[in-house]
Amino acid sequence: MTATEYVHGYSERERQRLHDQSQTLADLLHHDTLYPAGSHVLEAGCGVGAQTVILARNNPQTRFTSIDASPVSIEAARAAVGRAGFGNVTSQTADIFRLPFPEASFDHVFVCFVLEHLRQPVEALRRLGAVLKPGGTLTVIEGDHGSTFFHPRSDAAWRTIQCLIDAQAAIGGNALIGRELFPLLLDAGFQEVAVSPRFVYVDASRPEWVEGFTRNTYIVMVEGVREQALATGLIDRASWDQGIADLKASAGPNATFCYTFFKAVAVKH
Ligand SMILES: C[S@@+](CC[C@H](N)C(=O)[O-])C[C@H]1O[C@@H](n2cnc3c(N)ncnc32)[C@H](O)[C@@H]1O
Repeated sequence: MTATEYVHGYSERERQRLHDQSQTLADLLHHDTLYPAGSHVLEAGCGVGAQTVILARNNPQTRFTSIDASPVSIEAARAAVGRAGFGNVTSQTADIFRLPFPEASFDHVFVCFVLEHLRQPVEALRRLGAVLKPGGTLTVIEGDHGSTFFHPRSDAAWRTIQCLIDAQAAIGGNALIGRELFPLLLDAGFQEVAVSPRFVYVDASRPEWVEGFTRNTYIVMVEGVREQALATGLIDRASWDQGIADLKASAGPNATFCYTFFKAVAVKH
């Protein structure tokens, strides 16, 4: 994947967004991401290591091999793991579609916020399944921007979210992939597929969620496609500005904001 094929890009702001997102969501998404002591887990598409440090902290007896197609992200991931002082993670640059590992070499595989960016998510899941031992699990976590709703309601705000969905689709991604995890995993040959929706509800009584999720994860993510949306004519400047202002109002004192993530665990037989 090249930088132009990854809708969020690899900027410093995106690096910070991924860390804010993972810290805010750590308990909601990861309280049950637990692996047996001594097992070896492949984390595919680790990015800057935002999930890696949470996995490594929650599973100190587990060995993680974390890969990403971007060497720059792998450097950042190594630095994040080093700062956290974890010795149970090895990071390396590698492509999910050309995995440099023998078949059946991992006890478990973990993927978070990666399939939504791929043109061939089922093929990616098959490749990951090939390096998984029989009886091992694959855990996939994805969002679904169609699950967003908020108060005050605003059609203008929705148009900016639609810009992100359209911009991602234009480069082969799928920002609505969360709802598809069950059929995708079955298509890829996995069994015992269990999907659990993880619902985020935010209002002013949870200021750390207003800051960490609504503002610094979600709105920053939508704002990230501004140039692309304007340049490709998905929206005009005035409509964009109005939509972003309305979206920011959903982080206000009398506002609410809702979003659903989907976490799937499946078994390779
Ligand atoms: C949204 S980031 C998620 C990073 C991390 N999992 C997290 O949750 O913070 C998606 C990552 O997938 C990586 N990626 C995309 N296609 C890939 C591929 N074919 N092989 C390996 N990594 C890939 C990108 O480089 C990017 O770092």
